[in-house]
Amino acid sequence: MIGASHSRPQSASQFKTIDPMSRELKIEAARAALALVTDEMKLGIGTGSTAEEFVRLLAERVGGGLKIIGIPTSIRTQELCNELGVPTSTLEEHPQLDLVVDGTDEVDAAFNLIKGGGGALLREKIVAYASQRMVVIADDSKFVETLGQFPLPIEVNPFGLEATQIALQSMAEKLKLSGTIVLREVNSKTFITDGGHYILDASFGRIPDAVSLSKELLEIPGVVEHGLFLGYAKTVFLAGSQGIKRLDAEI
Ligand code: A5P
Repeated sequence: MIGASHSRPQSASQFKTIDPMSRELKIEAARAALALVTDEMKLGIGTGSTAEEFVRLLAERVGGGLKIIGIPTSIRTQELCNELGVPTSTLEEHPQLDLVVDGTDEVDAAFNLIKGGGGALLREKIVAYASQRMVVIADDSKFVETLGQFPLPIEVNPFGLEATQIALQSMAEKLKLSGTIVLREVNSKTFITDGGHYILDASFGRIPDAVSLSKELLEIPGVVEHGLFLGYAKTVFLAGSQGIKRLDAEI
């Protein structure tokens, strides 16, 4: 079903009330990732409430003398870095990065992710691809057996929106995926990404074959990018009531 909704929460970050316990967990995950940051690194910096905790801790280390160049994945993260005195540059200036630290909306046991709840998935993916290593930070509520509980964000070109929605719907049917595909709105206005695109949130519920879905999505010309990050994450820090769990991908 295709539609536009005014009522459902469209993002992990935009409508969530911040529970202090969950904030503590995000801070713990961010602290663990910060231990991997060393002097002179060119560092991709993610977007979202967990990545923002990372920026706050990073700013303290910078204040203490750590020398890094940060490459923010969104205007929102850029602004926070500016506010807290984290030095930044652009991917144009530094096209190869040592590390990116970012949050996620979901992560499975194979380190596949759904990202884009905050709408920054395109820049997040470009930065992650340009980084030698991607480290994901999250509270353990983000860990899932199968991706898809969180609506998959699909970034699309505004041109031909309806044609793209129809193409997405028939692609989903071909893959036997069902659920709504909804144009993201914030405060009753269409959400526009930093790159000037729209987001369609696809509530498939369960994505049994993320690789095929990724390929099919990228076949649709109006699709700019999607929030499936397959094979990107190399290390995941999951914070829970029992402490921090570090998971490393076999490289
Ligand atoms: C931003 O576009 C997203 O990919 C975020 O990284 C993701 O939504 C995680 O956000 P929270 O840390 O706020 O849950």
